[in-house]
Amino acid sequence: MTRLALATAVFAIAPWLAAASAPCEPSTPALQAFAKRADGYNNPADGGGSMLTIVNNTYPAGQGEPINVILSGTSDAQVLVDSLDDGGFQNYMLSTFLAHECLGVHFGDTQSANLGDGDGNVTQVAVLRWDYGDPYVGSCKETFNGGLHLRYWQQNGTKAFFLAVSVEMDEAKGHDIVPDGYNLGRDELVGNVTQTSVESRNVTTASTFSGQTSYGNYTYQTDVTYVAGLLQNSSIGINHNITVEEDGYAAIDGLVAVLQVSIVSRPAGDTGATAASSSSSGAISLLPPAVAIVTLAAVAALW
Ligand SMILES: *[C@@H]1O[C@H](CO)[C@@H](O)[C@H](O)[C@H]1NC(C)=O
Ligand SMILES: *[C@@H]1O[C@H](CO)[C@@H](O)[C@H](O)[C@H]1NC(C)=O
Ligand SMILES: *[C@@H]1O[C@H](CO)[C@@H](O)[C@H](O)[C@H]1NC(C)=O
Ligand SMILES: *[C@@H]1O[C@H](CO)[C@@H](O)[C@H](O)[C@H]1NC(C)=O
Ligand SMILES: *[C@@H]1O[C@H](CO)[C@@H](O)[C@H](O)[C@H]1NC(C)=O
Ligand SMILES: *[C@@H]1O[C@H](CO)[C@@H](O)[C@H](O)[C@H]1NC(C)=O
Ligand SMILES: *[C@@H]1O[C@H](CO)[C@@H](O)[C@H](O)[C@H]1NC(C)=O
Ligand SMILES: *[C@@H]1O[C@H](CO)[C@@H](O)[C@H](O)[C@H]1NC(C)=O
Repeated sequence: MTRLALATAVFAIAPWLAAASAPCEPSTPALQAFAKRADGYNNPADGGGSMLTIVNNTYPAGQGEPINVILSGTSDAQVLVDSLDDGGFQNYMLSTFLAHECLGVHFGDTQSANLGDGDGNVTQVAVLRWDYGDPYVGSCKETFNGGLHLRYWQQNGTKAFFLAVSVEMDEAKGHDIVPDGYNLGRDELVGNVTQTSVESRNVTTASTFSGQTSYGNYTYQTDVTYVAGLLQNSSIGINHNITVEEDGYAAIDGLVAVLQVSIVSRPAGDTGATAASSSSSGAISLLPPAVAIVTLAAVAALW
């Protein structure tokens, strides 16, 4: 196929992708409505869990990656549903250019986390990647070029989302984490959801950031604070710690960004009175694998 034909193939499927965004996967079981703390999440360590992810085959063994952003369970109920629809979490993430992985094909390792909620070690729900402003194939570009990405989980009971965010190197470098890539990833995410520029080395527990983003006619207000004491302030046991440490600073600064998200405007017809009940895992993940792989080859040819 010529380059033009490949490009045509990509754009030919674009309407199909859009059409596939209607929810057609079974709903996940509703999360139990446990009493939640005033701050909208529970410290995983209180329930035998950890703010470090579980990664197989690290050297030395047993290293994890920091869960450095929490979307608080006190946020708008619609954002606390893992859905593309009704202003859900995935729509919120698209408002800040983070999309499901390139055509639903997962690259790289899978990680688990124990959020101390009684569910034990749970595989990541999904990986989201910076989409360069293009929700259809932009995350493919991130897959090859590296950049901002995250894995996420949802805590049973509080419904808070726990995000392990980092900036990684490109495909050729095996998707290692860039120097200071955990703090930078957290703060690029905070910068994006609040439309401000966040200087990682200056962030303290006194820092706050607020701002708005929109997608699909939903506008979200995000208020961010930084919390100490959930994560360690050191490099020990942090995956890629040798290369992530920089200028004498530890691989992570120990701060977790806590996002409080409210919906300040909705499309006509959504009154916000009834929270979304369906859950879909994203249009692109519905592609049959063979189609996805062929399409991926086409996308790769574009740059
Ligand atoms: C890690 O390895 C174990 C044993 O091979 C496997 O059961 C588990 O699914 C792996 N976890 C992840 C997150 O890949
Ligand atoms: C959960 O992960 C931890 C850390 O890797 C491991 O020690 C433990 O055996 C795992 N638990 C189960 C039930 O697999
Ligand atoms: C949440 O925890 C409850 C109580 O342990 C359990 O019954 C339920 O299956 C869990 N839900 C999910 C989605 O893990
Ligand atoms: C948003 O994220 C992108 C991708 O990592 C980054 O290049 C950009 O600087 C971020 N924007 C802000 C305001 O932090
Ligand atoms: C970060 O802190 C340094 C030293 O205090 C200061 O010069 C700089 O302006 C700060 N940067 C931002 C973006 O606040
Ligand atoms: C957003 O609002 C515009 C103008 O009101 C409308 O034309 C459009 O269909 C809406 N889009 C969505 C995704 O609701
Ligand atoms: C982390 O530790 C370093 C050195 O021990 C210290 O300078 C820094 O203030 C600590 N950061 C936080 C967020 O506690
Ligand atoms: C990285 O973490 C390991 C434990 O997993 C520790 O032995 C090592 O000293 C750490 N390296 C650095 C550079 O902090």
